[in-house]
Amino acid sequence: MRKAISLGIAALLLIISSGTLSAQNEKTSTDALSVIHNRKSVRHFTGKSVSRDDLITIVKAGMAAPTAVNMQPWSFVIVTDRPSLDILAQALPYAKMLDKAGAAIIVCAIAEKAFQGKAEIAIIDSSCASENILLAVESLGLGAVWTGVYPDKERMDAVRKEFNIPEGVIPLNVIPIGYPTNEDKPKDKFKQENIHWEKW
Ligand SMILES: Cc1cc2nc3c(=O)[nH]c(=O)nc-3n(C[C@H](O)[C@H](O)[C@H](O)COP(=O)(O)O)c2cc1C
Repeated sequence: MRKAISLGIAALLLIISSGTLSAQNEKTSTDALSVIHNRKSVRHFTGKSVSRDDLITIVKAGMAAPTAVNMQPWSFVIVTDRPSLDILAQALPYAKMLDKAGAAIIVCAIAEKAFQGKAEIAIIDSSCASENILLAVESLGLGAVWTGVYPDKERMDAVRKEFNIPEGVIPLNVIPIGYPTNEDKPKDKFKQENIHWEKW
């Protein structure tokens, strides 16, 4: 009798724990290739805010990106307040989806911190961080899109002014983040003709 009860409890615990695990897996798809292929530019958000914990997880993924000579020539401005998100939406012609985003990250490239002090290298490094951010967002079940700031001088000046970004620092992009409505879908971009084996 006692054995039957213990077995019953063990089975119950197994069912509960497998339920918890599958709920976690739903939220955080951990397989790297699935995340890469499911990532898409998300331009339709529900309006729900994004937690600070998720935003830190996302920026941490950005900071894990490779950089030339490991210089990490970047900074990230995390914007969560509604008036600031609206100001960004007004300043950037192709970032109107910010009106329903829960947050945005401004990825900034810092030339003087980059290998050989080169702006080009800071921009390449910060682009790597941006892609990591987009992938982390996807893996958390959130959505995001890279909206262009650099190299448009007018957009760079507007973003710098509004967020106190120093003159030498390049606001590379603004990445609106939020809960997706699931209207946006990933595209299949595999093209055989863009592959050259051994030589062009
Ligand atoms: C440098 C760069 C600038 C971009 N600028 C914008 C933008 O201003 N607004 C926007 O909605 N999407 C922008 N995008 C997103 C692209 O339109 C998008 O990545 C492309 O259409 C491919 O779609 P996918 O991201 O869903 O695969 C930009 C992407 C990059 C890499």
